[in-house]
Amino acid sequence: MNTVLKCNKMTMRFGGLTAVNEFSVEIPEKEIFGLIGPNGAGKTTVFNMITGNLQPTSGMIYFYDKPIVGLKPYQIVSLGMARTFQNIRLFTNLSVLENVLTGFHHKLKYNLFDTILRMPKFSKNEKIMVDMAMELLESVNLKDKADFKASELPYGDRRKVEIARALATGPKMLLLDEPAAGMNPQETLSLMYFIEEIREKFDLTVLLIEHDMKFVMSLCKRIAVLDHGVKIAEGKPEEVQKNPDVIRAYLGDINA
Ligand SMILES: Nc1ncnc2c1ncn2[C@@H]1O[C@H](COP(=O)(O)OP(=O)(O)O)[C@@H](O)[C@H]1O
Ligand SMILES: [Mg+2]
Repeated sequence: MNTVLKCNKMTMRFGGLTAVNEFSVEIPEKEIFGLIGPNGAGKTTVFNMITGNLQPTSGMIYFYDKPIVGLKPYQIVSLGMARTFQNIRLFTNLSVLENVLTGFHHKLKYNLFDTILRMPKFSKNEKIMVDMAMELLESVNLKDKADFKASELPYGDRRKVEIARALATGPKMLLLDEPAAGMNPQETLSLMYFIEEIREKFDLTVLLIEHDMKFVMSLCKRIAVLDHGVKIAEGKPEEVQKNPDVIRAYLGDINA
């Protein structure tokens, strides 16, 4: 199996606070890997370093054996890594379709002149993009709502639009930061099936952050647990769940 993502002793310090301390992980192709831990454990910070939103204080990150520390977020996206955010980030005044179209942004072959002059190349590209975006919306069951404003959708659907936009960048790997946050149990269950479905359909490797341990248990083959920036356990969900350090970390977290 190819290793898709490898983090080697990744550390992030904010002033005196070590948010992530020497975090290492290896994720092979097609795996759904879960990163869990109490609030403030450093999970989002791990994502931000992997996606180039933060430069690690020290450590190495490899994406398909290519070192990616120092690259800009858009460069990492174009290598095939896409993410969603803990707090959904959509253009609320744009339509669902337009939001997904923004995901193709880095792929557009035309320049500003073409756009202004409305050259045939533009229209042709535009048509292809719209077709592809509609296809993506179909696979997230939101084709009927393509013309709705993003702000008009219920929470669960907004999350799916965000995922569709991430898919529009043509990723090999998808990073999801607490995708089930704010969802009711039913929405959460359908999201779980959905993540499994898109992994199959788009041949993805998935790294999933989750606060709620129950959510990752059935979905992930392996999980790692972060507590105060330190990885305290890694392995199969059923093993990790029994780990005394993990139980202690979660008992100390009143929000778990
Ligand atoms: N940009 C930042 N500047 C300073 N401190 C930060 C920053 N981002 C996160 N932190 C701190 O790092 C710690 C880990 O945060 P975060 O990665 O968001 O945790 P999690 O996602 O596990 O809840 C927290 O104490 C948080 O306040
Ligand atoms: Mg977070």
